[in-house]
Amino acid sequence: MTESKAKLSVDGNEIELQVLNGSVGPHVVDIASLYKQTGVFTYDPGFTSTASCESKITYIDGDEGILLHRGYPIEQLAEHGDFLEACYLLLYGELPTKAQKTDFDYRVTRHTMIHEQMSRFFTGFRRDAHPMAIMCGVVGALSAFYHDSTDITDPHQRMVASLRMIAKMPTIAAMAYKYHIGQPFIYPQNDLDYASNFLRMCFAVPCEEYEVNPVMARAMDRIFILHADHEQNASTSTVRLAGSSGANPFACIAAGIACLWGPAHGGANEAALKMLSDIGTVDRIPEFIARAKDHDDPFRLMGFGHRVYKNYDPRAKIMQKTTHEVLAELGIKDDPLLDVAIELERIALTDEYFIEKKLYPNIDFYSGITLKALGFPTTMFTVLFALARTVGWIAQWKEMIEDPHQKIGRPRQLYTGATHRDYVPISSRG
Ligand code: SDX
Repeated sequence: MTESKAKLSVDGNEIELQVLNGSVGPHVVDIASLYKQTGVFTYDPGFTSTASCESKITYIDGDEGILLHRGYPIEQLAEHGDFLEACYLLLYGELPTKAQKTDFDYRVTRHTMIHEQMSRFFTGFRRDAHPMAIMCGVVGALSAFYHDSTDITDPHQRMVASLRMIAKMPTIAAMAYKYHIGQPFIYPQNDLDYASNFLRMCFAVPCEEYEVNPVMARAMDRIFILHADHEQNASTSTVRLAGSSGANPFACIAAGIACLWGPAHGGANEAALKMLSDIGTVDRIPEFIARAKDHDDPFRLMGFGHRVYKNYDPRAKIMQKTTHEVLAELGIKDDPLLDVAIELERIALTDEYFIEKKLYPNIDFYSGITLKALGFPTTMFTVLFALARTVGWIAQWKEMIEDPHQKIGRPRQLYTGATHRDYVPISSRG
């Protein structure tokens, strides 16, 4: 890592800070010694200009709309590989050989079942519980069942926990869906690939054979690849911060799921589809565009905008292509929601407000239409995002744990509250 220097003067006290250069992307000013040297903190709510860690996993060039996983463009991974290959790449840093891929697929497949007693957790939820609430609860409970892979200091246990998370998330997600709709759970079937196994666990019923549609399975697998990892987004940062205290990986992933649920983050795919349904028809789009531009209206175009991408989210382009493939396979000639989405995108991308603020469709804009066409209710959309992002959370957690300089994350603050004052007995408070 090449270095240069930055000068900073605080109240006449001039200091030098190291500037570190990565392999690509913005340099960073190392401010670790700032407080010790100057007695001041930096201040960056929302971390708009703050790098929280060093990482080798994923790189985003927001201006150019580029997304690389271990250096490989998302377009190539989505086009040529499958989700478990992307998982191997994120976890180990290299594309697997044929033998490594066969072994990895085998190892993941043999962890797809969950402890039979865990199925009782589901009956504790109301049937109409949001599946993300069930995911938070059941995934967190994994640490009550898999004690033999919670010692984070043991590399073998870290890898077993990683495999278990990747393997069991589809099973738990499918069980959350089945419980939600009142159908019996379907066990994983190990002769199916990852995406086919998941679709079968969601849509098969015990009373008849279920044939997985290969076009749908490929679309599902590609959707998982698109959602796998994305640098230090809010939920990944949550997993890293939870893991920095030494919490077990299952609890950390449950924390990531909770954060992802928010509509500003992973919950946007559910919110985007609801927005398209609320708009309903193309002629109502101008009304919603006006609301999105109105500072006094909290409404935002869901599936638009991004903290990093100030260009088109490359994942959204691939998602749009997948949407057309799925609708064509289903023989859906015109989907009114897709018509609204395409017209909304066209209008927004030519509108001065969106151009000036560099607001483009993100991954959540088209994903909802595709997931609805695949047969999922909107309440399952963020669950599918969590299922796919689990490998990214785990890979980032593992990178943090294995960093020899790792320490517990403990941000400071700008305090603007009351200064010292003495207690007043209630009898004297008027
Ligand atoms: C994901 O971080 C990741 O990588 C996340 C993710 C991943 O893979 O992990 O990519 C997944 O979360 C994608 C984003 C999904 N969220 C949405 O689609 C919700 C709608 N988008 C916005 O809420 C917003 O764009 C965010 C949250 C995504 C980004 O917010 P920022 O970076 O904090 O930007 P901002 O809120 O400061 O907005 C900048 C300006 C503001 O106007 P001004 O106050 O400067 O006048 O743009 C406006 C905002 O009002 N703006 C929007 C808008 N998004 C931003 N105006 C209308 N509609 C929008 N969608």
